[in-house]
Amino acid sequence: MTWTTVTLLVLCGVAVTSAAKPNIIFAMLDDAGWYDFQSHDPLMATPRIDQLRQEGLFLDNSYMLPMCSPTRTALLTGRYPHTMGLQDVNALGARKLFWPNETFSMLPGELKGLGYKTHMLGKWHLGHCHPSVTPLGRGFDTFQGMLLGAHSSYYTHMKGKVYDWWNNTQLDLDAKDTYNTDLINDAMVDIVQQSQTDQPFFVYLAYAAPHGPFEVPQRYVDTYCSHVTEPTRRIHCAMMAAIDEGIGRMIDALKAKDIYNNTAIVVTSDNGGPVGFRNPSGSYNYPMRGGKKTVYEGGTKVYTVVKAPGLTVTNATWSGMINAVDWMPTLLHMAGGRAADWMHGINAWNRIKNFGVSARKEMLYTYNDYVKFNHRAYRMGRWKLIQGKPGFHQGWYVPQNLVDAGVAEKEPLDGNQNFTHFELYNLNTDPEERKDLAAKKPEIVQEIVGKMEALLDLYPLQPFVESESALSDSYTTSVDGVTVLSTCFCHPDNSADTPDCTAA
Ligand SMILES: *[C@@H]1O[C@H](CO)[C@@H](O)[C@H](O)[C@H]1NC(C)=O
Ligand SMILES: *[C@@H]1O[C@H](CO)[C@@H](O)[C@H](O)[C@H]1NC(C)=O
Ligand SMILES: *[C@@H]1O[C@H](CO)[C@@H](O)[C@H](O)[C@H]1NC(C)=O
Ligand SMILES: *[C@@H]1O[C@H](CO)[C@@H](O)[C@H](O)[C@H]1NC(C)=O
Ligand SMILES: *[C@@H]1O[C@H](CO)[C@@H](O)[C@H](O)[C@H]1NC(C)=O
Repeated sequence: MTWTTVTLLVLCGVAVTSAAKPNIIFAMLDDAGWYDFQSHDPLMATPRIDQLRQEGLFLDNSYMLPMCSPTRTALLTGRYPHTMGLQDVNALGARKLFWPNETFSMLPGELKGLGYKTHMLGKWHLGHCHPSVTPLGRGFDTFQGMLLGAHSSYYTHMKGKVYDWWNNTQLDLDAKDTYNTDLINDAMVDIVQQSQTDQPFFVYLAYAAPHGPFEVPQRYVDTYCSHVTEPTRRIHCAMMAAIDEGIGRMIDALKAKDIYNNTAIVVTSDNGGPVGFRNPSGSYNYPMRGGKKTVYEGGTKVYTVVKAPGLTVTNATWSGMINAVDWMPTLLHMAGGRAADWMHGINAWNRIKNFGVSARKEMLYTYNDYVKFNHRAYRMGRWKLIQGKPGFHQGWYVPQNLVDAGVAEKEPLDGNQNFTHFELYNLNTDPEERKDLAAKKPEIVQEIVGKMEALLDLYPLQPFVESESALSDSYTTSVDGVTVLSTCFCHPDNSADTPDCTAA
């Protein structure tokens, strides 16, 4: 009998208590930067997310991995991505992530065991080569969205020539021509309206935006962002506003159904905003250094809001450290369950709820042995050590309007490109990572290297498995003359046999 089954049986015996479990909505934006929310940049238009911040807490020490698939892996397994070969940027749709296996399940499976109805909306990007590794195979009751990491257009739902928008296991060809974020927003409202009062629900609300391509219906530009003069920032503002409007519609639907006060809502981002190369994304992590794909704070510290029943303090900033791997244990505790010993994260729910001191004092930012990055970084209290190449785009990227107003000086796009060195920062006094103390404090460098190595001994690296090309012809199939993504081209036990796609 599996752990999940045991939990389910236990719960069935105490079904009366399940009504008190909060609904949980975990909204994760894709590539939203630290400075991309209205409470940080008044030019942006995210009033509803900022309202949640006032009714709940802002977390200003919340860390994800510097790239999307690794963050999604950590979030849904509670485990370090490097222990599953999922630490690098190339965790493409085709990658075979077969952990967790039959014994353990991902976050939705565990929540299902606690009595939740589980829904996923938006971007998956955690494998699709077999039904068992797609959202329904991983424990979601329903799925509407995309299996790949990004599309060529937010309207066609195609990557190149391949169509990728799904309703559960079926392609949803009717979605064509409707803006991706609008589809997700509409589906979110439907889930709330159709929810049953006697069963709590969980929604993994994985927006694909504001990741590129930088497209948005003109209505959002005109309504919310016409005052933004920097052209890429204006589009970015509107893509964020489309999400914020959806969050607002979701809140209104929860209130109409009278379940708003019993619903926990988390809004966060999968990594920092992408910056550099004249900033085509329009995103900023100001005043922090770097962005997506760097281990600097700009790439890893994410804007995070938690509004939940039971918070003892609201409209405040909780400064405890929380890492991507902590969310699964945290959400399970929020749902009345417990973290299991195979999870690597720490439950933070009691500390957040009671506005207490975080149990986490140290943290692995990431360990990536991939040739493009080859870096690792570790936090010990106020100290942060970076080993290897910090990543792409190492400068400070100052918003154009601040440069124009003379408030801030625009700095060079890229800094140090020395790939074989240590950098040490005191984040208490130097949160912008401007003063490298590695040469001055070799004993602290050595102490942190020791801590990092001890952690990596405990949670060893699983070698990087070269992924197959994500979109070669064998990974597509044809439905009614449309080229679509295949979800059956690998074998679940990694054998070379013909895939058995009935097993899921
Ligand atoms: C939150 O605090 C701010 C600043 O003190 C105040 O202006 C605002 O009204 C508060 N919001 C709520 C919902 O209490
Ligand atoms: C699942 O993975 C865990 C952890 O690696 C392992 O202990 C367990 O034996 C595996 N179960 C199966 C059925 O493969
Ligand atoms: C998805 O499919 C289900 C049946 O499997 C159907 O009831 C529902 O209306 C579909 N949703 C959309 C958005 O097409
Ligand atoms: C929800 O909570 C707020 C703040 O505690 C309170 O003002 C409001 O009356 C509650 N609404 C319901 C329907 O219980
Ligand atoms: C790289 O950094 C290390 C340690 O800071 C230093 O010893 C080395 O000279 C640097 N190499 C280059 C090419 O700058």
